[in-house]
Amino acid sequence: MIQGQRSDSEIMAAFRDAGQGHVLRWWDALDSAGRARLMEQLRQVNLDGLRALIADVRAGRINPAPAGRPELPDYIRLPGTPEEKSAREKARAAGERLFRAGKVAAVMVAGGQGTRLGFDAPKGTFPIGPVSDRSLFQIHAERILATRRRYGGALPWYIMTSDATDRPTKEYFEQHAWFGLPREDVRFFPQRMMPALDRNFRLVLTAKDRILLSPNGHGGALLALAESGMLDDMERRGVEEISYFQVDNCLAPAADPVFLGGHSLAGAEMSSKALLKREPEEPIGAFVRVGGPIMVCEYSDLTREQMYERTAGGQLLYGLGSIAIHALRVDFVRSETQSGFKLPFHLAEKSSPSLDESGALVQPEGKNVYKFEAFIFDALRDARRTVVLEVRREEEFSPLKNATGKDSVETCRRDMAALCASWLEEAGVRVPRDERGAPKYPIEISPLFALDAAELAGKVHKDLRIAGPIVLAAAR
Ligand code: UD1
Repeated sequence: MIQGQRSDSEIMAAFRDAGQGHVLRWWDALDSAGRARLMEQLRQVNLDGLRALIADVRAGRINPAPAGRPELPDYIRLPGTPEEKSAREKARAAGERLFRAGKVAAVMVAGGQGTRLGFDAPKGTFPIGPVSDRSLFQIHAERILATRRRYGGALPWYIMTSDATDRPTKEYFEQHAWFGLPREDVRFFPQRMMPALDRNFRLVLTAKDRILLSPNGHGGALLALAESGMLDDMERRGVEEISYFQVDNCLAPAADPVFLGGHSLAGAEMSSKALLKREPEEPIGAFVRVGGPIMVCEYSDLTREQMYERTAGGQLLYGLGSIAIHALRVDFVRSETQSGFKLPFHLAEKSSPSLDESGALVQPEGKNVYKFEAFIFDALRDARRTVVLEVRREEEFSPLKNATGKDSVETCRRDMAALCASWLEEAGVRVPRDERGAPKYPIEISPLFALDAAELAGKVHKDLRIAGPIVLAAAR
């Protein structure tokens, strides 16, 4: 039970009963503001859920390997034949009908802590545009606005935040006047926080008035949509399908008619986009089928040996990678959340400073805490039908995870510029390239100027000369 309505003394008793009374060790020394801060956090802890989780960890029932032999699932490959191309066009037409009728909403998860990037503000505010320094939030907002303009439907946008990102995210959107989107069509909803545990399964104090809480994973989005009233909001608006993506993917199409249309025509409850892994050890989840349903095996749960395992046909068994773009029916999300939190928690060992017995903050030598997160792709197991659609990496996937190296600021800028260059070349424009074949100058095309190559072709003249960094933008 969440401690929401109970008095301070009832909560304190409940924590003592649960063997977590150490969190109150410095209670008597705290001033009233400190007590209020601690209480507010304790109220967020579901002690019954925590007890069950601890029992699962002790019994080895967490991060379970799938029971049964995994197989590479069927998926819709990139179109090669005329039939495959015409199936995608049929799907596009169905998707466009959904958009025009206002039956699609976009859900973006932006509650993560961005630890690997080493950026304190919400990741969405990171300036990533290769020329203009547009932020991730602005790029996604412009895609939403351009999609709305193209189809004339509302396409409301729901953004999941967490304790750390909620206020700065809302302030950022306000400062930028919601990037030209109607204010009532940009809705923020917070995910729940989850307590971390030490190796003795005790809550972790990081100050005398603070326990270690972290966002409950993007799987928390489903329950958070229901608890925050956003699902009601979608139903009121007549929304039937959700286009789900992560803030960190600078190329993520906010809502793709081919994908949503194909998913809807197939009568699927939850569908996903996929691509073939660049290398066996690429850190992305992998789609497999174990018995009936399709599921995603998270990269961190795979052994090195598994990453290289091949099917009889010679394909990598775990080679169909997830780019964390999903389509979900609203009524499926409703049924997933009817009786509370349904998705399993995954455990990760992390390192965090914590208070020692004397109240001093100690930096650990290695990993010292367990953190728990739910993953949205675990809902695939409950879906009666799933479509897995292969897409082109260079068009749809370039995540910002790290400050340098793979999936970094540099690779995101490079990938955005490369995509824009290929659109320009399709439009007949000559793009100067360097000795490695990359565009010689940074190029950026605002989604408001063109959402795709076909739109760009109708807007630029092939004589456009590129002799330096270039931005093609349009007024909001
Ligand atoms: C994730 C996926 C992985 C996928 C890859 C694609 C998981 C466990 N794995 O990996 O299968 O191939 O992305 O890029 O997700 N977020 C929240 N709240 C949270 C946690 C995360 O909103 O509590 C959001 C983040 O803001 C971010 C996204 O979810 O936008 C991904 O989170 P992250 O932890 O970076 O996932 P990865 O390990 O990179």
